[in-house]
Amino acid sequence: MKGFLSALALATCYGKFSASPLLIEERQSTGTGTGSYAPAGYTQDPTLTGHTIFAPKKVPAGTKLPVLLWGEGGCSADSLQSAPFLIQLASHGVLVIASGTPKGSGSTTAALMTAGTDWIKSRAGTGNYANVDASRIIAAGWSCGGIEAYAQYWDSRVDSIGIWSSGLLTNYTMASLLKKPMFYFLGGSSDIAYANGERDYKAIPAGTPKWKGNLPVGHGGTYTQTNGGKFGIAGGYWVDWLLRGNASASSYFTGSRAKNDGWSVEFSNLDKIAVTPI
Ligand SMILES: *[C@@H]1O[C@H](CO)[C@@H](O)[C@H](O)[C@H]1NC(C)=O
Ligand SMILES: *[C@@H]1O[C@H](CO)[C@@H](O)[C@H](O)[C@H]1NC(C)=O
Repeated sequence: MKGFLSALALATCYGKFSASPLLIEERQSTGTGTGSYAPAGYTQDPTLTGHTIFAPKKVPAGTKLPVLLWGEGGCSADSLQSAPFLIQLASHGVLVIASGTPKGSGSTTAALMTAGTDWIKSRAGTGNYANVDASRIIAAGWSCGGIEAYAQYWDSRVDSIGIWSSGLLTNYTMASLLKKPMFYFLGGSSDIAYANGERDYKAIPAGTPKWKGNLPVGHGGTYTQTNGGKFGIAGGYWVDWLLRGNASASSYFTGSRAKNDGWSVEFSNLDKIAVTPI
């Protein structure tokens, strides 16, 4: 994709800061999420090559699931790298389409993430996906996966971008063009992506709804902690608000709760965000 480094180059830039699959597995704690739609888990669909779907195990009749696209750290093709975090987000009533397969090897690309959008757009509302509402989609990712998410910005089907422990590695001018709501979850000054994320946040034009939080945990975040740790808590409120349209979840970001959880917070124009409850 023009304007973005190849997945391989990106994996080299941010990749060395993500733990090896073995390490991740050792650190990874299990959990099935704490959201209103827990328990959540993951599955694959043979018609969706190279991806993994995280969702509530049972969806109550009448409930619709909005969609989150996710790219892993290092653009890793192991979709279980941040499984506790993704299960937590799914338990809030979201269909997560993660790039990569369980324990998969190699790298993913921004184009693979776009393929997830194509796939769910053609299935939402019918068959096995009758309870999916793909009229609201957020693209997000950790580290190199965040760069894959940035690349979805130009896709009119994508409403908002979530940058997790990441920031642009090249062609920084893109940040000055961003108009869709942008959320940054960074790991504080010891996060290798901290300077890039801070720079992007500052470059976003006046008027764009944006939020940035720093939790001083470094580049590894808390994705592999039980239910995704504090990143999972913030992520739960984020999808409640931006995908499910639960406006009261916004106070986590604008009031004292994120701060009480240890996040250093900056934001502007968040009052412009209006999401119809799903
Ligand atoms: C840089 O990004 C902008 C906006 O995404 C794009 O229009 C431009 O083509 C990119 N430049 C290069 C050299 O890739
Ligand atoms: C909406 O968010 C609030 C605050 O996070 C939460 O207490 C409430 O349960 C949520 N409502 C629904 C329907 O999920």
